[in-house]
Amino acid sequence: MRRRYTEKVIPRGLILGIETSCDETAAAVVERGARTLASVVASQIATHARYGGVVPELASREHLRAIVPVVRAALEQSQIALSDLDAVAVTAGPGLAGALLVGITFAKALAYANKLPLIAVNHLEGHIHAVLLREREAQSAQDRGNADEPALALVVSGGHTHLFLAQPREGTWHYRLIGRTVDDAAGEAYDKVAKLLGLGYPGGPWIDALAEYGNPHAVPFAFAQVKTKAHLAGKTPRTKGAKTAPIARLDPRFLFSFSGIKTAVLRYVHLHGLRAEAQQRMDRLLAANDGEKPVVVKPPATKQAALALCSQATLDLIAGFQHAVVGDLMKKTFAAAESLGAARIFITGGVAANRELRVRFTQEARLRGAQVSFPTPALSTDNAAMIAAAAWPRLLACDFAPPGLTAEPSLALK
Ligand code: KG4
Ligand code: ZN
Repeated sequence: MRRRYTEKVIPRGLILGIETSCDETAAAVVERGARTLASVVASQIATHARYGGVVPELASREHLRAIVPVVRAALEQSQIALSDLDAVAVTAGPGLAGALLVGITFAKALAYANKLPLIAVNHLEGHIHAVLLREREAQSAQDRGNADEPALALVVSGGHTHLFLAQPREGTWHYRLIGRTVDDAAGEAYDKVAKLLGLGYPGGPWIDALAEYGNPHAVPFAFAQVKTKAHLAGKTPRTKGAKTAPIARLDPRFLFSFSGIKTAVLRYVHLHGLRAEAQQRMDRLLAANDGEKPVVVKPPATKQAALALCSQATLDLIAGFQHAVVGDLMKKTFAAAESLGAARIFITGGVAANRELRVRFTQEARLRGAQVSFPTPALSTDNAAMIAAAAWPRLLACDFAPPGLTAEPSLALK
């Protein structure tokens, strides 16, 4: 049987988390997976924005630049010394190989030099623990008495749209893949649609901000059900992460596909003469950004500002797109929760910051007598507090990384 620590053996339970899987360099200190002492995120948005997407080589270079100051800031803000730490946790995958390696190499050296155990965390497990961290901070699950019940988790971000059944067993969490996208992730669709409409980068916050001024029923988009398993058998999914996931073995009711809606939006833009407007918008945003591509300026925050940037037809298109994406995420997530008998639902990842998504999931859960939880909006996107929180049960279980730990770009969550 595996060795286990009891909580009392570990005086403070302080874990330093490090996350460099994509385009944020992040470090955080979390106590016992339940209290965030510091969470520092250095975003590379400005670096990648001009290319309209993350450039892997630039990401690695930026992580190298940022990792030391970010870790130092996290320790300073939490007012602890390296000698106070009980463990170092780092994202091992999925993600960009070079980007992951920066965090892993740094975490290994830090752990070795300070005689601390090193814990490897799956990035997707981290996103799920962002919800658990919030629950523990608010003590809400304990109050409800369901902290140990299984949950259906939707991880929905720029790289992933995955459904997992998360089950706590003997102190650690176990995961079963229930569904996933067969092509683009939902956040990827947000980013691509924003780009073709001449909006800023990343697209999610822009579409979130503008959708509320459009009529969500003016442009009805529909999602076809992803067809049979046979049709997908043997095909490698096109998403970046967890390429090995066996799509053909999943229930087709819980498969997502977001590449079609991007094409549908593109077709609508051409058919309805919205192309020139999108080009002008991009030119204006660029000018407002001193010609620097793109456009890290904030999305409009009032109806007046939204209408100054977009025609009503474009706002309706944006609202229709978001309505359809959120509707599809809801339909499949609730169906999976129902079919698995999971009364708890976690929604996490960058797209979980979306306001319409939060409102509609919460309303639907109330109608169905289910319970839906989100991370705080800041912990929805990539951060290291979620990595440190996910590492706490692994520290108790003495589940340490091997000395030869290396980056696993397609690491699957189990
Ligand atoms: O989790 P995350 O920071 O990184 C990945 O692991 O991908 O997610 C980033 C994604 C981007 O596609 C971004 O456009 C999307 O999350 N996003 C949003 C919102 N905020 C970020 N999508 C919809 N609404 C938002 N408010
Ligand atoms: Zn992520």
